[in-house]
Amino acid sequence: MSEMTLHLDILDRKNIEDALTTELIGRGVCELHDTIDSTNSRAAVLAREGAPAGSLIVARQQTAGRGRQGRTWISPPDAGIAMSILLRPEIPLTRLPLITLATGVAVAQAVEALCGIQLGLKWVNDLTAGGKKVGGILAEMPGQALVIGIGINLRLDEGNIPDDLKNRIDWLENLAGRPLEPSLLVAEICRFLERQYFSLLEGKSQAIIDSWKHYSVTLGKEVMVVSPTGDSARNISGRAVDIAESGALLIEKTDGTRVELSAGEISLRSLDGSYC
Ligand code: BTN
Repeated sequence: MSEMTLHLDILDRKNIEDALTTELIGRGVCELHDTIDSTNSRAAVLAREGAPAGSLIVARQQTAGRGRQGRTWISPPDAGIAMSILLRPEIPLTRLPLITLATGVAVAQAVEALCGIQLGLKWVNDLTAGGKKVGGILAEMPGQALVIGIGINLRLDEGNIPDDLKNRIDWLENLAGRPLEPSLLVAEICRFLERQYFSLLEGKSQAIIDSWKHYSVTLGKEVMVVSPTGDSARNISGRAVDIAESGALLIEKTDGTRVELSAGEISLRSLDGSYC
């Protein structure tokens, strides 16, 4: 192989930087790690050290990737996108939960533009395709900062997927039926995320929600809201009917009353117990 061979299938910092078209995200600090514990943890350290808004951390592999509700996010070498963006929004706290929905929209738009794949968004943070999970979003607040973590399955080795996950996860190259360039995808996500983020700063909550609804696979579905205590008597079932201005999910129970659910508390199942 010649020294000039370009590894477009592997994340590369120069390729990311060359493809960036943003004003804020990826400017200033832009790190690509071969291996790291968690890009969100690294972004939190940078936040405490005073790194600027827009700092971008990407990794080819994570050894302690984190998901929502204390779950582990597995990031084998060069199998996915693991990226975190540090932001310092000066907006009312009530508007902040919308960042998870806005990020979902941005990722779906980037994947559509670059890969020609239509993803679905499952409230609140899941990226899906055909009822399977393709990625997820983890927004955290270390100190006064906001860290948005994005994990996407890019290429997985079918033989290495545990049996219990086989019918529940999918990956972009499988859906596209062709190799994809992860550095370009990172840059494209930054481009669409910056747009969504500026909308959030400008108070355009309804525009974010309307865009999210376009990709929603949750609204209109009969769902079961699983109690975080594990006490099944406290589970709620009903139809997911709308998104509130805060980003909360509105569920209409069979007696016609509505409950508003915020992201932290719950996980959603279909009534038959399946993932979507
Ligand atoms: C979820 O589906 O529960 C959210 C998964 C988020 C995973 C990403 S990978 C990049 C960033 N770093 C982490 O440790 N987690 C997020």
